[in-house]
Amino acid sequence: MGKRIKIGLFGFGTVGRGLYELLERIHSTDVTIERICVRDISKDRGVNASFTDNADDIFNDPEVNFIVELIDDADASYDIVRRALEAHLPVVTGNKKMLARHLPELIELQRKQDTALLYDASACGSIPVIRNLEEYYDNDLLISVKGILNGSSNFILSKIFNEGMSHADALRLARELGFLESNPTLDLDGWDSLFKLVIIGVHAFGIYVEPERVFTYGITHMTDHDISFAREKDRRIKLVAHVEKLPDNRLVMCVMPQLISRNKYIYSVEDEFNGVVIKGLFYDKQFMFGRGAGAHPTSSAVLSDITACLYDYRYEYKKMHNSELPVFDDNVSFRIYMRYNDPVDLQLLRFDEITESYTSPGYNYVVGRARLSSLHHAREAMHSRGLFIAAYPAD
Ligand SMILES: NC(=O)c1ccc[n+]([C@@H]2O[C@H](COP(=O)([O-])OP(=O)(O)OC[C@H]3O[C@@H](n4cnc5c(N)ncnc54)[C@H](OP(=O)(O)O)[C@@H]3O)[C@@H](O)[C@H]2O)c1
Repeated sequence: MGKRIKIGLFGFGTVGRGLYELLERIHSTDVTIERICVRDISKDRGVNASFTDNADDIFNDPEVNFIVELIDDADASYDIVRRALEAHLPVVTGNKKMLARHLPELIELQRKQDTALLYDASACGSIPVIRNLEEYYDNDLLISVKGILNGSSNFILSKIFNEGMSHADALRLARELGFLESNPTLDLDGWDSLFKLVIIGVHAFGIYVEPERVFTYGITHMTDHDISFAREKDRRIKLVAHVEKLPDNRLVMCVMPQLISRNKYIYSVEDEFNGVVIKGLFYDKQFMFGRGAGAHPTSSAVLSDITACLYDYRYEYKKMHNSELPVFDDNVSFRIYMRYNDPVDLQLLRFDEITESYTSPGYNYVVGRARLSSLHHAREAMHSRGLFIAAYPAD
C-alpha cells in the first residue's frame, strides 16, 4: 500500500479513543484518522475530529484508504470487516468474538481479495502473541500455548488470593474500576478467553476449532471453600486457556480454572495482567507477559498492526497448509477438583477414577480423572447446579 495511511475508524470507545490519543501523542504524519463512525452521533466527544453515524460516509470517502474496526458489536463488526475486504481496504480489528466465529471465511476472503486483515490486539491486548506465533514459532516444534488471557477475572482472583478479599468484594471492585465487560459472564464464565484461544489455535497450530466444541468453564461458582482448598494445597486458582498438540497429533483445547502451583510462570501473573506460556520441543518454555486490555496498551497493538501494513505485512497462515494438521480431540483426561452441593450432583460428571473425596454438611468435593468430552457433556448441568470445577495437575 502507499506510504500514507488515512484511517476510517469505527468506534470511539476505550480503544478507539485510545488510538486517537496515541496518534496525537506521536504526531504521526504517516498515519492519520480521516473520519470516525460511532453509534450515537449526539455524544460530545470533546475532540476536533469528523464524526458520522453512517458507515457509508466512511466507505464512500475517497480519502479513506484503511479501515480500523473497534466497536463492541460482533455482528456489525463482521459486516464492517467484510465490507472493507470486499472494497480492497486493509482492515485492523480488535473484535475477538467476531473473529472466533468467522475466521475461516475471513481468511479466505482476505486471500481472495489480496487485502490485509490484521488483529493482534484481539488476542492479548498489548502482548504480540499472534504475530510471534505466526512468524517466530513458524515450525512444527510448538507443543502448547497456555495462559491467562482475561484480565478481569485475573484481577478478581488476585484480589482474593493476595489481599484476602471476598469473592463478592473483589467482583464489586472490578466492576467499580471498569474492568468487567457490560455483560460480566463473558469474562467470568470464560467466553472471552475462549474467543482468544480459538484465534491463538489458528496461529499456533493452523487449525480452526469452532468455539462451541471447546470445553469452557469459568469462576462464577467459585466459593470460599474452593479458595481455602487451593490455599491448603499452596496453590492459586487461575482461569487458564490451553491449547496443546499431543505426541500422537491430537489437539486439546479448553478453558477452565486451574489450581496453579508456585513453580508455574502464571502463578505470579497478577491483577489485570495477561501471561502466556509457549512450550516447544527444544526450547522448553517461554513466557510473554503484559497488559491484556486497556485503552493505550490495546491501541498500541492496533497501531502496530496499522504500521505493519505500511510494509505490506500479512498473516500468511502457513501452518494451515501443513500436510499433517493436528486433529481436535476432547477424549483426553484431566485431573479435576469438583465441589458439589448434593450427592445427586456426582452423577452429572463421569469420572474415570476418583482418588479423593470429602463430604460435610456444607462442603463436598471429589478429586479424580475425567475426560474433556465428559466435562463438555456435563457443562450446562454443572453450571446450572452451581458446581465449581478446576483442573488440578499433579505439580
Ligand atoms: N477495552 C479493551 O481493553 C479491549 C482489549 C482488546 C480488545 N478489545 C476489543 O476492541 C473492541 C472495542 O472495545 P472497546 O472497549 O473500545 O469498546 P467500547 O468502549 O464499548 O466502545 C465501543 C464503541 O463502538 C461504537 N459502536 C458500537 N456499535 C457501533 C456501530 N454499529 N457502528 C459504529 N460504531 C459503533 C460505540 O459508539 P458510541 O460511542 O456512540 O456508543 C463506541 O464508540 C471490542 O471488539 C473489544 O472486544 C477491547
